[in-house]
Amino acid sequence: MAYLQVKDFKKKFNDLEVLKGISFDIEKGEVLSIIGSSGSGKSTLLNCLTFLESLDSGQIYLEDKLLFDGVRDSKLKESALSDKRSNFGLVFQNFYLIPQKNVLKNVDFAPKIKVNREAKAYKKSLKSQGVKGKKLKEMVNAYLKENLKATEEYCISVLEKMGLKDKMQSYPHQLSGGQCQRVAIARALALKPKILCLDEPTSALDPELTGEVLKVIRELKEKENITMIIVTHEMEFAKNISDKVVFMANGNIIECGSPKEVFNNPKNQLTKQFLQGYNK
Ligand SMILES: Nc1ncnc2c1ncn2[C@@H]1O[C@H](COP(=O)(O)OP(=O)(O)OP(=O)(O)O)[C@@H](O)[C@H]1O
Ligand SMILES: [Mg+2]
Repeated sequence: MAYLQVKDFKKKFNDLEVLKGISFDIEKGEVLSIIGSSGSGKSTLLNCLTFLESLDSGQIYLEDKLLFDGVRDSKLKESALSDKRSNFGLVFQNFYLIPQKNVLKNVDFAPKIKVNREAKAYKKSLKSQGVKGKKLKEMVNAYLKENLKATEEYCISVLEKMGLKDKMQSYPHQLSGGQCQRVAIARALALKPKILCLDEPTSALDPELTGEVLKVIRELKEKENITMIIVTHEMEFAKNISDKVVFMANGNIIECGSPKEVFNNPKNQLTKQFLQGYNK
């Protein structure tokens, strides 16, 4: 079975059918690009996959296990969804950085919340073993200190990979769009997701800043072997980086194959028309 399997995703907004039965799979370390015209359902697909939108029906299998079933799990609490969501990182077109936090805090904010949550669980388990009083406090504080430090170090290492070590103390308004997007990618990676999803990561950027973001995405594949799903309008990039390409139209997958198959030899008339629009 594939590393990630998306099975028969269906989603309506009122009467509008936005996903009409989307299925695809992806192996570990692969990059899947999703292309298609505006309104075809690409963002909705990523949002459903990362639990930001509910699914009407469909399943997600990750590492051979059923992670989520749209019908069975439709009433799951936010905490259970959040656990499932932690398998996925999502990078948005418009970064959504927190303006009041510097670069490092934007990136280590969520992982540190996670450490605090884990410390509570650790405290509970110590208590159940009969540890109490000063000893309990010391052990929990030591756990927190060690893990918060390790988390910060990890976040710094991720920022370094993104070429942002010298910007850690800067605030988002002091950065270029390309730098902001690299912070957003670092923030998603800081939580060590199994799959990184990127929704048009360069479309809000000026052309001269697009290259630097595409470069770090390429490095994530080549050096870190990160499994990625990328919605993009950068056809050359998709052609070069992808193991698989999916073309969507009107809530359906019209064509799916290797970049060679989809870009050089599209079979469907809609795919041909869409790609011609880019070649003009
Ligand atoms: N929250 C929502 N409520 C109602 N309709 C929505 C919602 N989100 C998206 N839609 C509609 O669903 C359809 C698909 O939207 P989606 O954002 O998934 O398209 P897209 O392929 O990502 O387009 P683009 O390339 O412009 O980003 C559109 O018709 C859109 O108006
Ligand atoms: Mg979109």
